[in-house]
Amino acid sequence: MQRVFSGIQPTGNIHIGNYLGAIRNWVEMQHQYESLFCIVDYHAITVEYEPKKLHERVLDLAATLIASGIDPNTATLFVQSSVPEHTELTWLLTCITSIGALERMTQFKDKSERQKGGVFAGLMNYPVLMAADILIYKAELVPVGDDQIQHLELTREIARRFNSLFGEILPEPQPILTRAARVMALNDPTSKMSKSIEGSYIAMDDDDDTIRKKIRRAVTDPGPQGGEMGPGVKNLFTLLEAFAESEVVEQFRADYANQSLRYSDLKHTLGEAIVEAIAPIRERRAEILAKPDQLIEILNAGAERARKLARQTMAEVRDAMGFKMPVL
Ligand code: TYM
Repeated sequence: MQRVFSGIQPTGNIHIGNYLGAIRNWVEMQHQYESLFCIVDYHAITVEYEPKKLHERVLDLAATLIASGIDPNTATLFVQSSVPEHTELTWLLTCITSIGALERMTQFKDKSERQKGGVFAGLMNYPVLMAADILIYKAELVPVGDDQIQHLELTREIARRFNSLFGEILPEPQPILTRAARVMALNDPTSKMSKSIEGSYIAMDDDDDTIRKKIRRAVTDPGPQGGEMGPGVKNLFTLLEAFAESEVVEQFRADYANQSLRYSDLKHTLGEAIVEAIAPIRERRAEILAKPDQLIEILNAGAERARKLARQTMAEVRDAMGFKMPVL
């Protein structure tokens, strides 16, 4: 059975972009592949964060993932910092990763511009930690949104360099994209929906009226003009395709084509479709969060399973790189 790995950061508001670009795909894939899904808390500290809130955010995210359909008896769900081999491998891979390649990463360029108090090395090395996450499990498939493709390409490059220097140990992983691999911001459809841009997203824990209101306010254009759709309307159709029945989508597409579509109708239908999908997840999430001890037990069990695999790869990697002393 092929192995799948993917990760998500516990940084604030998980949104429907994360859900459509990644989480929903994980839920489907967990039944077809051996799957590991990781809450990447070490990634979350590469930008300013609140230490007092980190643990709560980790549990929140775990609950959201389980409520969305990740079954911890089928997939291995765990927290990155519970498996220290991730950071151990990161160091070894850092030594064969070029600074130039890291500086070229689009996300690094964007985020370092926003870093007011100076740019720290962790932000630049972030993709090496991501490569270690994947390679330590020798994962073959990585379901992600479009914004992670560049990091995955770098992961493949690092694996190739490792294998050519030390022997064929780390397989090159392939990305898996969904049809909604790039959900755009509701308030600016030329940039992607993002946790760090207020007004751009619908959060997985938004209440029904907030969801409806955010969709009503989404940027569109003056009206169907025929021909090429504007980016805001295109984004609403992407969301409609993801949340509504195909007949409903087809009807709206036909209305758009003959220029009879009213955006208020489209928004109303879309808002209701999102509410229908998200409300049950929000409710399940609250039930799960009411029993934090059980949740922590689930994550610990996942980490134990993951750690066994991580240790095997680390032993091979250490040996191949010439570290012959035991880990005590
Ligand atoms: P993160 O936490 O930013 O996002 C989690 C997942 O959501 C996807 N995503 C989107 N998909 C569609 N439209 C959007 N607007 C949108 N915004 C986010 C992301 O592509 C991602 O799949 N570096 C990663 C986490 C990570 C990881 C890994 C992923 C760490 N190690 C190993 C895969 C494998 C990140 O910051 O994702």
